[in-house]
Amino acid sequence: MIRSAESALRRGLLRRSYTSESPLPERKVAILGAAGGIGQPLSLLMKLNPLVSNLALYDIAGTPGVAADVSHINTRAEVAGYMTEDQIGQALEGSDVVIIPAGVPRKPGMTRDDLFNINAGIVKNLCVAIAKYCPDAVVNMISNPVNSTVPIASEVFKKAGTYDEKKLFGVTTLDVVRARTFFAGKSKSPGLNLVFTDVNVPVVGGHAGITILPLFSQATPASNVALSADEITALTKRTQDGGTEVVEAKAGKGSATLSMAYAGALFADACLKGLNGVPDVVECTFVQSSITELPFFASKVRLGKNGVEEVLGLGTLSDFEKEGLEKLKPELKSSIEKGIKFAKEN
Ligand code: NAI
Repeated sequence: MIRSAESALRRGLLRRSYTSESPLPERKVAILGAAGGIGQPLSLLMKLNPLVSNLALYDIAGTPGVAADVSHINTRAEVAGYMTEDQIGQALEGSDVVIIPAGVPRKPGMTRDDLFNINAGIVKNLCVAIAKYCPDAVVNMISNPVNSTVPIASEVFKKAGTYDEKKLFGVTTLDVVRARTFFAGKSKSPGLNLVFTDVNVPVVGGHAGITILPLFSQATPASNVALSADEITALTKRTQDGGTEVVEAKAGKGSATLSMAYAGALFADACLKGLNGVPDVVECTFVQSSITELPFFASKVRLGKNGVEEVLGLGTLSDFEKEGLEKLKPELKSSIEKGIKFAKEN
């Protein structure tokens, strides 16, 4: 009696888990640069994501080990590792989302733009392969300088005749994650207790130094501790310099990897949800945009079945934010132009 009740329960549980998973569509995610500092924890986090059915891990070195390791985790995604250039086609074919953390990270004293000479070529070649093997995939660009690598990707795709501006994203989620953390930390006071994971702060502009513009005036839930102008200035600067804080703390051993993997996994999850038709998925990201005079700009974007569904406006800015917006434009413009020029000449 007990045994039959148990087995009925087990059958019920199995059926429930089967029916709850069966409506999820098959989704293949490819990570290019999967064996790196970001790539490894990002591979782990994507393996844990139930929306992923196939996970293709590609790198020029070290992928078999990462793939074997991650593949032993008992979650839905089937994992395969690819290493040599002749395997990139297999890695990319059928991908719905391609995440690119390939390239060199910063060392102390370097700006993101100092990475341009090496990473521009890497990104360009990877995008040529994407255009060839999975032209319809959504691309999440992590490799820096994002302000230039996204324009490079757009030019490569235009040349190949595959460019869809709705499917190309610069990943700026780490700026949002940092702004949330610093804001929630600053606003903590007896009786208030902002829950870190409930806080949201839009971050607009680009992804380097002053081009990162957190909009603390639009932070939610609004802090009922009025932050002073000096505190807002300090929070803004800390968000802009968050990457450098990590680079210096790592003292030559690279830049943000763990927090970046978390942020990259959040953004890829949002893209997958959008593709799967989940309504109202909104994330800040660097996309082709007409909300300012610049051709690419990070702002809140609604994600949907075709990638970008709507690029949302900036909302009401404080005077401090308006000033920051005007200040960032020349630098962002020149980084975008540098990327476009590189792609046209190479
Ligand atoms: P890493 O050096 O630890 O890993 C990079 C990986 O890319 C290595 O495994 C390397 O073998 C691989 N790689 C190099 N050329 C490749 C190619 N042609 N094809 C495939 N893989 C290739 O560097 P880490 O720390 O993982 O950083 C990667 C990139 O992410 C850097 O450009 C860094 O600046 C950027 N980054 C971006 C952030 C953002 O917020 N968007 C935050 C932090 C880093």
